[in-house]
Amino acid sequence: MTTVLDVQRFKDEGRRFAMLTAYDFLSAQILDEAGIPILLVGDSLGMVMLGYPTPLPVTLDEMIRHAKAVARGSRQALLVGDMPFMSYHQSAEQAIANAGRFIQEGGMHAVKLEGGGRVIGYTRKLTELGIPVMGHLGLTPQFVHQMGGFKVQGKSEKGADRIMADAKALEAAGAFSLVLEGVPAALGGRISKELKIPTIGIGAGPQTDGQVLVFHDVFGLTTGKAPKFVKRYAHVADDISRAAHAFAEEVRTGVFPGPEHSYASSGSNGDAKPALDEVKYGAS
Ligand code: KIV
Repeated sequence: MTTVLDVQRFKDEGRRFAMLTAYDFLSAQILDEAGIPILLVGDSLGMVMLGYPTPLPVTLDEMIRHAKAVARGSRQALLVGDMPFMSYHQSAEQAIANAGRFIQEGGMHAVKLEGGGRVIGYTRKLTELGIPVMGHLGLTPQFVHQMGGFKVQGKSEKGADRIMADAKALEAAGAFSLVLEGVPAALGGRISKELKIPTIGIGAGPQTDGQVLVFHDVFGLTTGKAPKFVKRYAHVADDISRAAHAFAEEVRTGVFPGPEHSYASSGSNGDAKPALDEVKYGAS
């Protein structure tokens, strides 16, 4: 199983690595079997799975429900639970209690917290208690209203210096890795060079130690204009749409179900007990 020590080793050995978001049992199983070393149950699930306009409304209970499903589907990946908005904002006690729920109930191995400031102290406390923390700086979606929208951060020298300072403080507080989102490529490179812990970029240029993307973006389940940093490696929404049309058409024309999809009756052998066909449901 991938551990936080392995992730550090990736950086020490100069091996770039991938992280993907996962939100359910089957997708976690597929990504895990594909050898993705880190799966993040991101609060982006509020948007891509639950249809909220921002990640802010998603609750810890909703996150944990999905985390459990991901944990059931995964065997080798390091699993990181994303602490949702307001689940760690009040106090260190609240952060500890809710991070603990992610580990105990959700089956996660680590948690991710957005921001610097007070989060630096929470990171120290959680780490001391044996809960590994992934930091997250730059375009932190939980600060969407503070940032005036989803905007690239750290473009000015002052902004870049603040992110650099927070990154170093999170490292000193014990964070095992750091997500850098929506920052200029040069800043992504500079922070990755100055930190000993691995950075994981999303819209932070090519020089971060790892890269993360959202499941629905990578596989083309989101449609329309994607953010600049997204690369689509498949077009699953198109496949689903084509298949849905084909299914509806075959139902309309009577092509589906054919004999190969239908059960036979037991015939005219009146007394014999009919064999019960087993119906196979489920994922595997
Ligand atoms: O919620 C999320 O999916 C994330 C990643 C994009 C890093 O925080």
